Amino acid sequence: MQQINIAIVGYGTVGNAVAQILEKEKELLAQKSGFLINLQKVYTRNWDKDFQFPLKDTQKASSLDEILNNPSIDIVVELTGGIEFPLYLFRECIKKQKHIVTANKALLAEKGKEIFQLAEEKNVRIGFEASVAGGIPVIRALREGLVANKIKNIYGILNGTTNFILTKMYAENKNFHEILKEAQEKGYAEADPTLDINGTDAAHKIAILASLAYGGFLDFSNIYVEGIENIEKLDIELGKELGYILKLLAISKAHNEQVEIRVHPTFLPQTNPLSSVNGVFNAILIEGNYVGETMFYGKGAGGEPTASAVVSDIVDIGKSLVLGVGREIEVTSMNWRHKDLNLKKVEDFYTRYYIRFTVPDIIGVLSKIAAIFARYKISIAAVIQKEKVVELYTKNTEKTVPLVILTHTASENNIQKAIKDIESQKITKSRTVIIRVEDPEE
Ligand SMILES: NC(=O)c1ccc[n+]([C@@H]2O[C@H](COP(=O)([O-])OP(=O)(O)OC[C@H]3O[C@@H](n4cnc5c(N)ncnc54)[C@H](OP(=O)(O)O)[C@@H]3O)[C@@H](O)[C@H]2O)c1
Repeated sequence: MQQINIAIVGYGTVGNAVAQILEKEKELLAQKSGFLINLQKVYTRNWDKDFQFPLKDTQKASSLDEILNNPSIDIVVELTGGIEFPLYLFRECIKKQKHIVTANKALLAEKGKEIFQLAEEKNVRIGFEASVAGGIPVIRALREGLVANKIKNIYGILNGTTNFILTKMYAENKNFHEILKEAQEKGYAEADPTLDINGTDAAHKIAILASLAYGGFLDFSNIYVEGIENIEKLDIELGKELGYILKLLAISKAHNEQVEIRVHPTFLPQTNPLSSVNGVFNAILIEGNYVGETMFYGKGAGGEPTASAVVSDIVDIGKSLVLGVGREIEVTSMNWRHKDLNLKKVEDFYTRYYIRFTVPDIIGVLSKIAAIFARYKISIAAVIQKEKVVELYTKNTEKTVPLVILTHTASENNIQKAIKDIESQKITKSRTVIIRVEDPEE
């Protein structure tokens, strides 16, 4: 049986799980793929610690050069994280014509254009199934299974940490910081969860999906991203009364010449299929013109689910090395390098809005706000005012009440102008909360 030789760079959570699967499932993988996968070398910067899956001494590389300068290594699996070092590693691997498998969404979302162009010049393949939604094979689904479709919209719950926090806030009526602490204790949130909480991680993933779906690169720094750090339990409660669940949603929509990509806390109707995706699970709902709606669900992180995707890429690239086919299919269906996507600006977004004002409990406030909304052509769908809730949740000495307005579809630009007007007239007593709503109009 033929053999392909691989190396892993970065031996942490995912690296250990990949090595373990390759060892434990050696025979199964050989049966399924028709070739043997040999984990020849692993390089990590510090061997002086305990590993979940200990390696043979002969597998341990003491320098990166042992991998880069070894002509028998066919595929390098990058599992370090971050951008600077992996970018260097990718450039070196491509120079040496070593194929690459990675789980690194940050690198691909921010440096994908350079990487894929270099790889194409050298006829190097890059497998990145694990970079989005861990074990869920959504990259392959977009690239192959849905190839007949024009992709209209993608809605993703792409970050397990934030979904865990929002699910618990909804179910247990606790505040953000209490649940974040619990998530860290349970290992569902990193010691430094910034990139999860502030939406960057989900934005990296939707950027990759959008690039694949619409066949072009995009400028990551121009994506609209808002995290969940300011979400209050009061809004989750009030949203519940309106029939909504709050999710950190990564959204990508195709318009004629433009692509709208945004990541922000979003109210979804409780009946939306994504609303039942709870805890650390991920899901991606993709709408294609022929297939209609398809939804992919599963574990979006964790060593083993992510390693499952990494191994699938090793097998996929290995197959094309052994059989000598596959390269053409991969290039034409990936399509990343052909154009730059034109991103819609945030002020041009149209959606529905949940807006919570904190206002004095006196007559005439609602009519003042309604008049300003009318001036900006914002149509109101529902209003809630809760006296009891405010006694429970606000610390203002002056008696204030939360006034929630749910709008019909409105322009972001007009919403922002209306809120500015309302705040400048000192009608409100503390920050106005704006949460976008994905709920199709009847
Ligand atoms: N964990 C998940 O659930 C998950 C899910 C999807 C995608 N990913 C992605 O998978 C990648 C790996 O994640 P992970 O969770 O396995 O991370 P991790 O546990 O922190 O492991 C990273 C490993 O890389 C090593 N490393 C970092 N920089 C290095 C360098 N410059 N040279 C050599 N070794 C270096 C680290 O060494 P030290 O231990 O000495 O720091 C560690 O062994 C990341 O891109 C991550 O975004 C992870």
